Amino acid sequence: MEKNLISIYDLTVREIKEILEFAIDIKKKHLKGQEVLTSGLLKGKILGLIFQKPSTRTRVSFEAGMKQLGGETILLDIKESQLSRGETIADTAKVISKYLNGIVVRGEHKFLLEFAKHALIPVINGLTEVTHPCQILSDLLTISESGKNFKNLKLVFVGDGNNICNSLMFAAGKLGIDFIACCPAGYEPGAQIIEKATKDAKKSGGSIDLFHNPAQSVKDADVIYTDTWVSMGQETEVKKRLHDFKPYQVNKELLKYAKQDCVVLHCLPAHRGQEITSEVLDGKNSIIWEQAENRLHVQKAILILWLGNKKNKMRR
Ligand code: CP
Ligand code: NVA
Repeated sequence: MEKNLISIYDLTVREIKEILEFAIDIKKKHLKGQEVLTSGLLKGKILGLIFQKPSTRTRVSFEAGMKQLGGETILLDIKESQLSRGETIADTAKVISKYLNGIVVRGEHKFLLEFAKHALIPVINGLTEVTHPCQILSDLLTISESGKNFKNLKLVFVGDGNNICNSLMFAAGKLGIDFIACCPAGYEPGAQIIEKATKDAKKSGGSIDLFHNPAQSVKDADVIYTDTWVSMGQETEVKKRLHDFKPYQVNKELLKYAKQDCVVLHCLPAHRGQEITSEVLDGKNSIIWEQAENRLHVQKAILILWLGNKKNKMRR
């Protein structure tokens, strides 16, 4: 594995499977109350957290996961740090690398890359506007727990072609999934991301397609995934976005086109009545709550693999 976890694109198929298998094992132990078997794995380690944007799941699951593994966390509030007074990202990364064993960063993609370039410790992407790898690893675990295989799986993302869509597309390319991004015109994923995922898909036997019509896209889908129409940082565009995305709601009518046993995912937070109806979010096809729960188990697998004493598995 690379020193940092920046994007699903950087992981090999073997590494993705290793993380998922590890997470399943950790989850089993957690649910059986056998936490004594994992509770000391990160004893003495400290995880830093930089969150430039709000978070519930990512922050709490990393903090809880770290503590359950015997480690500790420190939240660095940028406004109260010297970053706010102009100390460079490079200098900050170099210095705090000497105090911490790893760090989760949620913020601008450029900030994350600059931080990772200068940090001497593992840097984990806790979401940027471009990618959200920890979320997608949890999604893959949840899809596989629902009894579905990745090969020949038809996964349709309905919504905005940004971070979640991009990371799902990368995962699809690696794992041989048939992926459709169904986005309104003007909200498609970037050409470079599509190109990279398509190259991987050619090798894995998957496919990457881009459509604009939700009903046609979800025809016979095994998985439908949606996300907010207004991502963090896009608040000034609310009115236009609510208008442009209106036909892209995941609702009972749309589900009729998919397979009967189709599962529905959403990374959350959801805007009930916008990108998804409550009826679907809380309905029988939804595995959204399992998906959110799995963030904890996957974060723990990531923390052990990147921060634990498994350095032989790290490519540095
Ligand atoms: N899905 C997700 O990353 O949620 P948070 O923004 O609450 O962390
Ligand atoms: N696309 C959303 C994902 C939230 C987890 C955002 O960036 O706000």
